[in-house]
Amino acid sequence: MSSSLTPIPIIREMSLVDVDRVILIEREIFLFPWTPINFADSIKAGYQCRVMEHYDAVVGYGILMLGPDEGHLLTIGIAAKWHQRGLGTQLLQYFIDLARSERLTSFLLDVRESNKSAIYLYQRMGFKQIGVRKGYYPAMCGREDALVMRLEL
Ligand SMILES: CC(C)(COP(=O)(O)OP(=O)(O)OC[C@H]1O[C@@H](n2cnc3c(N)ncnc32)[C@H](O)[C@@H]1OP(=O)(O)O)[C@@H](O)C(=O)NCCC(=O)NCCS
Repeated sequence: MSSSLTPIPIIREMSLVDVDRVILIEREIFLFPWTPINFADSIKAGYQCRVMEHYDAVVGYGILMLGPDEGHLLTIGIAAKWHQRGLGTQLLQYFIDLARSERLTSFLLDVRESNKSAIYLYQRMGFKQIGVRKGYYPAMCGREDALVMRLEL
């Protein structure tokens, strides 16, 4: 069971000045990280970019793209030393609530089929697998499939 933090971390908009801190976490937790330009472009495109802060430290981040009916989670990450303390659940719930407030009907995401902790988190939040994108991700040996998961809102 994840333990909860006091005070509860805050979630706020990501701005361009956050990218340097976000990228440090990104490089720590992803084998094939996004670049600073990927984050900057997402902010400039008007996607829903958020950081999670505990005291003054950025401990996580996520990006949601809003479509006319569907939300698509482009990325979510929590700094390694903060894993398994409920922060991923809290951040994902924030994005689900945001999508609901926009009256979207479903919430989609892609996840590497080897990413068992993320898949567990998504299933626990009610996501169901609806498809597979063959060879979607780069991998150490070739390519890896993505599971496409959806939550009906
Ligand atoms: C996926 C991720 C965001 C989860 O964040 P988190 O803060 O550790 O998640 P939580 O603490 O809310 O945990 C949610 C559940 O998953 C479980 N869990 C999380 N990581 C786990 C792990 N490595 N092994 C086993 N269970 C794990 C927790 O135990 C918890 O279940 P419980 O409440 O029943 O105990 C985080 O592991 C991460 O940043 N991973 C690297 C980036 C990534 O893979 N992002 C997703 C890309 S699709």
